[in-house]
Amino acid sequence: PSTPIHSATVSAPTNIACIKYWGKASSHYNTPINDSLSLTLDQADLRAVTTASCCKCFTEDKLWLNGKEVQMNASTLKRFRACVDGIRALASDKVDDITHQIVVTRSEWETMPVHIASYNNFPTAAGLASSAAGYAALVASLVALYDAREEYPGQFSAIARQGSGSACRSLYGGFVAWRAGGEREDWSDSIAEPVVDEMHWEEIRAVILVVSNKEKETSSTKGMETSVTTSRLLEYRAKHVVPQRMKEIEKAIQEKDFESFGKVTMMDSNQFHATCLDTYPPIFYMNDVSKSVVTMVHVYNEWAEEIRAAYTFDAGPNAVLYTLEKYQVELLALVLRYYPEVGEGYVNNSELRKEAMEFA
Ligand code: PMV
Repeated sequence: PSTPIHSATVSAPTNIACIKYWGKASSHYNTPINDSLSLTLDQADLRAVTTASCCKCFTEDKLWLNGKEVQMNASTLKRFRACVDGIRALASDKVDDITHQIVVTRSEWETMPVHIASYNNFPTAAGLASSAAGYAALVASLVALYDAREEYPGQFSAIARQGSGSACRSLYGGFVAWRAGGEREDWSDSIAEPVVDEMHWEEIRAVILVVSNKEKETSSTKGMETSVTTSRLLEYRAKHVVPQRMKEIEKAIQEKDFESFGKVTMMDSNQFHATCLDTYPPIFYMNDVSKSVVTMVHVYNEWAEEIRAAYTFDAGPNAVLYTLEKYQVELLALVLRYYPEVGEGYVNNSELRKEAMEFA
């Protein structure tokens, strides 16, 4: 019989941080200087779909991204190895082919090179946390392939973290915190954990405005490096601002208090971009369109006399607006009126779109 190819395919969603991760404490372990918190978006069109395969017939490990083979540089290779070796070390003996009763033992997996093929259905590296979905899907596909088991809760997230920091949060649904850790020397306490049940706050919605799908000029790794070494504001933020904000936002989420949730989210996005400006040389992720979205949201909230929408921007100009289900048509109508092109973005509900168009 021919040599079997074992494979598993999974998809993983992106996540958008409300309390931002910016700055590494250890570049070796890829750990942060502060806790962060995000919402994992369950939209079908913001996912990475990844197939992990392995076979004795493969000659070497390989990676494809959106159909093109990736020639891994030192940094990508280190991330890739951390994920593959990390998950493979947790493999169990597995009956991989029920029909032929092929049993693959833990040690056998190590003799087989892996092939990884991943697709993103949204702009790569445009500040929509494509790396979060990508590395989360990589880890999850390997977990499925090797039938890996955690030795402690959060261990898979600690491995995903070594691919891309924010990826550790995409392994869970709903609101997820990434605890910075650092008590343990090997940083095994730098893990993600859900802060509430995935279904806890079902009324939360995210509207994404793709202002630009160009690749960002400053990668998050490079940006964090200069921010950590030059920005005093970042140091202050990590020590004196984020700990309090984490408490506030977790409480707001527990109590489904959108007013507080929205305010903290907007303030934290603003402070993150302020630390970018405080970096030397400065980093500009938001552009004029991004800034006008900020104004639009504040005008809308003032008009409503309450916070109905909250913006947040990652390392790029694209805006993510959080709102509640009952305001999403209203908000979408505003977006479509002022940003007809970017409003196309990610509202994957044609009914809702129709309703908003009429409203606009
Ligand atoms: O995980 P990275 O290295 O792509 O960094 C992500 C940084 C931000 O998206 C700006 C913030 C965050 O917490 O996701």
